[in-house]
Amino acid sequence: MSLIFVLNGPNLNLLGKRQPEIYGRETLADVERDCASLARELGHEIRFHQSNREYEIIDWIHEARESAAGIVINPAAFTHTSVAILDALNAFEPPVIEVHISNVHKRESFRHHSFVTLRADGVIAGLGTEGYRLAIRRIATLIAASAAG
Ligand code: DQA
Repeated sequence: MSLIFVLNGPNLNLLGKRQPEIYGRETLADVERDCASLARELGHEIRFHQSNREYEIIDWIHEARESAAGIVINPAAFTHTSVAILDALNAFEPPVIEVHISNVHKRESFRHHSFVTLRADGVIAGLGTEGYRLAIRRIATLIAASAAG
């Protein structure tokens, strides 16, 4: 059994209430529940966090260096601004999957650039909250592949 960190950036605590026409009606608690149950099904465990503060996300990435076999991250608005989160992820070796609920490429041009993409092993955008579950599946596949050598 491996530990997968699922990290969420600013305003995602409002998921379900905030611009539901873009982000849907599921809450972050729903996402956490679904990710936990899928991870369990795949033989893994998750640590799920959300913060509106950049430094907390960085601290969790540092913590993941000690304990996690992969990170699923939706850095939200920090995606487009944070060299510090990119640097922290560059210091984390196992797989990283970047998730965006909305299709950022169909939105304002400032959302088209992601610092995190420079590190991510894969990016999922525009598949709604299902993107988190797909990312967990992909991390599980990569964990199994690296265990098989
Ligand atoms: C987001 C897209 C970002 O551009 C935005 O700032 C968010 C959420 C998404 O999940 O679609 O807060 O990461």
